[in-house]
Amino acid sequence: MQNYTFLILNGPNLGRLGQRQPEIYGHQDLSRLKPLIHDVLGAASDEIELLFYQSNSEGAIIDRLERARDEAVHGMVLNAGAYTHTSLAIADCLAWIQIPCVEVHLSNVWARNEKLRHQSLIAGHCLGVVAGFGILSYVLAVQALLRHLQG
Ligand code: DQA
Repeated sequence: MQNYTFLILNGPNLGRLGQRQPEIYGHQDLSRLKPLIHDVLGAASDEIELLFYQSNSEGAIIDRLERARDEAVHGMVLNAGAYTHTSLAIADCLAWIQIPCVEVHLSNVWARNEKLRHQSLIAGHCLGVVAGFGILSYVLAVQALLRHLQG
């Protein structure tokens, strides 16, 4: 039975995973996510319904976040891409919708040279951050969300 609905939300330039700079972001796209979650979480994965959304636009991401509140989504895994580092608007939205959220990154943003990537405007509105494990970052975030909600 599916007790939890989680939204996997991806921001700009994350719709072309596998094609975009695979040396940084890996060769897999998110179609591998469901089977990976099943591998790692086992039977617990049956409890989770996953919704997917990706947009390259800041406003569309905020619209989707607001809709997630209306839908009473239980948790979110958010890779806001470059907006992580710049978007006060997404941070403001996370501050009021109050949906448990885990920030994820495929790459280890703190190991990268551009200083701006070391800053996140949204992390303070999230339960935690998982970065650096490629697609597995999303799986670990889902696992953390599930444990958090199960108490
Ligand atoms: C990213 C890291 C960001 O700095 C970058 O802008 C992205 C992807 C990641 O998943 O590693 O678009 O969020």
